This record gives sequence, C-alpha cells and structure tokens, in this order.
Amino acid sequence: MNLFELSTRKEYNTACKNAAENPEIFWDDIASHYHWQKKGFKTLDWDFKEPKINWFQGGKLNITENCLDRHLKINGETIALIWEPNNPEESEIRMTYNELHIAVCKFSNVLKSQGINKGDRVAIYMPMIPELTVGVLACARIGAIHSVVFAGFSSQALAERINDSTCCAVLTSDGMYRGSKNLAVKTTVDEALTSCPSIKTVVVVKRDNSDIQMMANRDIWYHEAELNVSDYCPAEPMDSEDMLFILYTSGSTGKPKGIVHTCGGYMVYVGYSFKNVFQYRKGDIYWCTADVGWITGHSYIIYGPLLNCATTLIFEGIPTWPNAGRFWEICDKYSVNQFYTAPTAIRSLMALGNKWVESASLKTLKVIGSVGEPINKEAWDWYEKLVGRSNCPIVDTWWQTETGGIMISGLGDINEQRATFAGLPLPGIHPVILDVNGIEISDDGIEGHLCIKFPWPSMLRTIYGDNQRCKHVYFSNYDGYYFTGDGAKREDGMFRIVGRVDDVLNVSGHRFGTAEIENAINSSTLVTESAVVGYPHPVKGQGIYAFISLETGNHSEKDVNISVISAVVESIGHIAKPDIIQIAQGLPKTRSGKIMRRILRKIAEGNTEDMGDTSTLLDPSVIDSLIQGKK
Ligand code: WTA
Repeated sequence: MNLFELSTRKEYNTACKNAAENPEIFWDDIASHYHWQKKGFKTLDWDFKEPKINWFQGGKLNITENCLDRHLKINGETIALIWEPNNPEESEIRMTYNELHIAVCKFSNVLKSQGINKGDRVAIYMPMIPELTVGVLACARIGAIHSVVFAGFSSQALAERINDSTCCAVLTSDGMYRGSKNLAVKTTVDEALTSCPSIKTVVVVKRDNSDIQMMANRDIWYHEAELNVSDYCPAEPMDSEDMLFILYTSGSTGKPKGIVHTCGGYMVYVGYSFKNVFQYRKGDIYWCTADVGWITGHSYIIYGPLLNCATTLIFEGIPTWPNAGRFWEICDKYSVNQFYTAPTAIRSLMALGNKWVESASLKTLKVIGSVGEPINKEAWDWYEKLVGRSNCPIVDTWWQTETGGIMISGLGDINEQRATFAGLPLPGIHPVILDVNGIEISDDGIEGHLCIKFPWPSMLRTIYGDNQRCKHVYFSNYDGYYFTGDGAKREDGMFRIVGRVDDVLNVSGHRFGTAEIENAINSSTLVTESAVVGYPHPVKGQGIYAFISLETGNHSEKDVNISVISAVVESIGHIAKPDIIQIAQGLPKTRSGKIMRRILRKIAEGNTEDMGDTSTLLDPSVIDSLIQGKK
C-alpha cells in the first residue's frame, strides 16, 4: 500500500495505525520519497523536557534540490509558479521549473557574491512578487537561514526582528502595490536599519520604480547584480537538523518569538501534508491566498507545493480590488483546482453580496481549504455552497507557526466532514485534550486544552536564542506534552478548535499578544496604562478592544485616538490597530495590582450580566464606570 499518497479512508486508517505503532518505520518510509544526499542513521531522538527534538539525524539534504532539481529531468517544463499581479491589467508571469531553478541559482549567487554564507540569517521584507519566493529558496539553497517579516509590519517591528537574530542582510523591494495603494517598502527598511548594526547588505528588487535612496556600500539593485552571476549554484549540503528558517510569531508575553524550523523534518512533513490534505494530483493548479510572510505562505505557497512538483499561484493583491469578484475571477482565469484561504476573507466577501461569486464559474475547484482561525457555521455554509457549489470538500486545517505543517484537517473528501470541525488528525499526529489538572479528557463534547503528545517531523525545534523560553511556553504547562495555546473539544474523534486560551488574539487570522499591543499603546505619551482584550468581530473573528488610562491633563478623545493608533502603527503596524479605544478612569485591579482581564473581556463583549467573583478587586466601583463608558 502506498502510504505516501493517501487516496482512501482505508489507506488513511492504515497510515494512522502504522504511524502510531511504529513511528520511526512510518516516517522513514515517508522520508524515502525525497532526495537525500546522505541517508540519516537515527530517525527520531526526542525529549520534550529539554526540549530536544531530532529527526532523520545524520541525514544530509537540501530542500531546494527537492523543490527544484529533482523535478527538472521529467518536469522541467511544468509550470512551477504563476504570479497574478495586483493590477489585473498587468500581465501575469508563469515560470517553469527550469526557469525557477535558474532564477533561484542566480539569486543564490548574488547572495554569495555579497559574502552571505551558510548559517547567516537573512531578513526578507518584500511584497508578494515572484522574487520573494525566489529569495526564500535562494537562502535555503546556500544554507542561509531566512527570516521573512510580513511587509505590513512597521520599521520598528522589522528592526526588532532583525536584531533578535542578528541578520546580516535584508532582501526587499523599492515599493509595493496593494489594492489601490502604492506603498513604500525600502523607506521602511531604511528607517529600520538606523538601529540594526548587523546588516551589511540590502538587496533591492525593482517593483514600482519609485524614487528611493540607495546607500553606497550597503544597498544593491537585484536586477544589476544578477547580470554578473552564473545561472547555476550547487545546493549546500545541509544536516537534517540545520536551521532552515526563523519565523517570528506572537505569544502571551511582549516580545515576538523566533520560531525555528529545521531542514529535514520540515521538508518531509510539509510535502506529505500538502499532497494529502489538498489531494493534489499532477497537473492541478493550486492557489493559497495567504502572504508568504506567514507560516501558511512558507509551508503551503512555497515549500509544500514545490516539493510536490505542483503549480502554485501567487497573488500580489487583495480580495476586494478592483472589486469583490477578484478571487473568483482568478480562480476562473487559471482554472484553479485547490483554493485555500482564511475565514476572515470569506466573511468579508460574504458581506459584499453573492453576485460576485455567483457570476463566476468555479467549475474547476475540487478542494477548498480554510486556515488561521475557527470558521463559524455561516461562513462554512457560504463557502461550501457558493464557492464549492456543494461539490467540494472543505478542508478546515488546524495548525500553527510552531507546528510547521497542518496537524488536524480533512484530506480532500477522504474523511467525513462536519461543519466548523477541523476533523481528524493527520497520520502520526497525536492530539489530546487535557483538563485543568492535565488529565486527558476522553469524553466527547468537553472543552479542554489542546496538546500534542508525540513529536512530528515539522515541529518547532526551539525559539531562536532562547530555548528556556521555548520550554517554558510550550513544554512546561503539562509534563510530557506540547501545549498549543488553543482550546478544543471532540466529537466522534473529530476535533473542533474553540480558540486561544492564552493572551493571544487572532485578528483576521493574524496573531497578536495582548501585551505586545499594550506595550505599543503605552508608548503614547498620553497614556499611563492600558489593557487590551479581544471581542467577537463579525469579519475579523476577533477585534481589538483597548482600555486606556490617561496621564492627567485635558485631551480630546480625538487626540487620544490619534496618539494611541499612531503609537501602535509605529511599533507594530497597521494590522494591529485597535478597533475600539475606551478611555477609562481606572482599570479593574486586584489588591496585588494585577489587571482582571476576565472583567474587561466581558465588558468588551457586552456581556455584563454576571461578572463572577469580584471580591478581590481593589476598587469594585471601576466596573460600573467602565460599563457606562463602553463603546
Ligand atoms: C488558530 C496559522 C481554528 C489557532 C496556520 C492557532 C485555527 C493559531 C485554525 C495559529 C483552524 C489556525 N481552526 N483555529 N483551522 N488554524 N488557527 O501561528 O488559534 O498564525 O493556535 O498559524 O491560529 O496561528 P499561526
């Protein structure tokens, strides 16, 4: 039985059984479908206590040989990448595997010519243009560790990420297009670099011809540099456990965490999960609407599809420009077979009316996916009926930056589907739901904390530069388990993810720590203190509700709003702007000075009937004044 490509429920069951009974044999078999320069000698060596996780130890590989070189002989002329520009009037780009291979080799040689070596960290801050994918793969080819920073982050946020992992170079563009906007990119990089002493090189790709500053001895134009390099670059031999990339994500505490993924395990799992979740078959056109700046883009725009010799579509723009039919027009234009997006996009398009989707054909769609946040019933039904035409399974894929790949999801239509349920775990994945005492809940319908009790190949290895923090955040809440930070319940073996149980907000599928936003708000000179909570938002899933106390003095509400919002935009970016700002006379604090967020959450949700136990509050009267001031 071929357990690498699962096509039936029986094969899925066998894969699960084999992976549970003998994980090493199972994963060795999956790994054998890839090209290894040298085979490993130990499949798995792990200890969640430290944590220490090694997969395919001793193995040597380069993920780009698996994404590119090995396809060339037979599939060199297959389209690897289709790029659809922001403006539908501009021409698209199609690159075959042969062409992408050459582009990656050239970019690799440009990086090498700048003295960038294996193990060096390279920040990538670029819009969704083909060079973003090429740049990522070029880093991987020479063994440099890429750290992609979403191009919506502010210069401060970029600088913080560059400095945390002492990157030596930034790959960027002059500017970018996003809907009707033309935004500066290089200028943001320049601002960031005033506080990044480790950066020696900035490689700039030309996108919008905007007028930018180039700093002598630091900045180079990509289109000039590529003229001087060879179009072949050998792939650096990498140890299976060498770092492949760092990707920053938010946690409960202030500073973003650099999640570390390594070469071998990530490759094996991401390729495997892509093939099976989307039931990708040769010749299919696959489109994931995420940005490469997030894990979904890393795993399921770039690596997963290319590992499978797929055609992956990259879209530069947004779903609502020039009109709300853009997604569906693109699906029809390229005859997309698998479409993967986020509930927030579905909800925002739902709100703009059915005519856009109804006038499209969408007849080539076979599987439609959802990722990033829990999908509500209304969005599920709309997606299934109007986009899937009641003819496509929805794969609701639950996973995280930390898990590297999809953990719980349908596999096309192989398994039973239930609206709003992510479904069953993939083979080799062992999720459990724990109660507050750390006991596994076996009964159906009871909510608890979602944990994973056995390693899988693409799991995070550490937090860059801080293994202790990794241990503390993920491996110490429950002994012997990886703690996801999500709440979940189960029915008939299927998992339903309820949402975060920690101080992480999920706003339009983007993760923010409440502390991270509070720190940003507190940098406003008008603010003494703030507390941020989430509240249900019809499109974003969660909205950001900020309660703030002011410095004394007279300030208009308008001035306060401007000051708070610009503080957030400066330290994090537009994506983290509070939706609601409420000026509070005081915040509900316990005698020991801790803010009782539970109360603020209830106020933000407008659910103030029962505030629960408030006896430990220093001044219970603040509750009434907060309720009165609610926005
Ligand atoms: C949430 C995104 C419900 C969850 C891949 C998780 C989901 C966080 C789903 C990770 C889903 C992701 N159903 N919730 N299908 N997918 N989440 O790191 O709270 O950006 O912990 O990775 O998103 O977000 P991240």
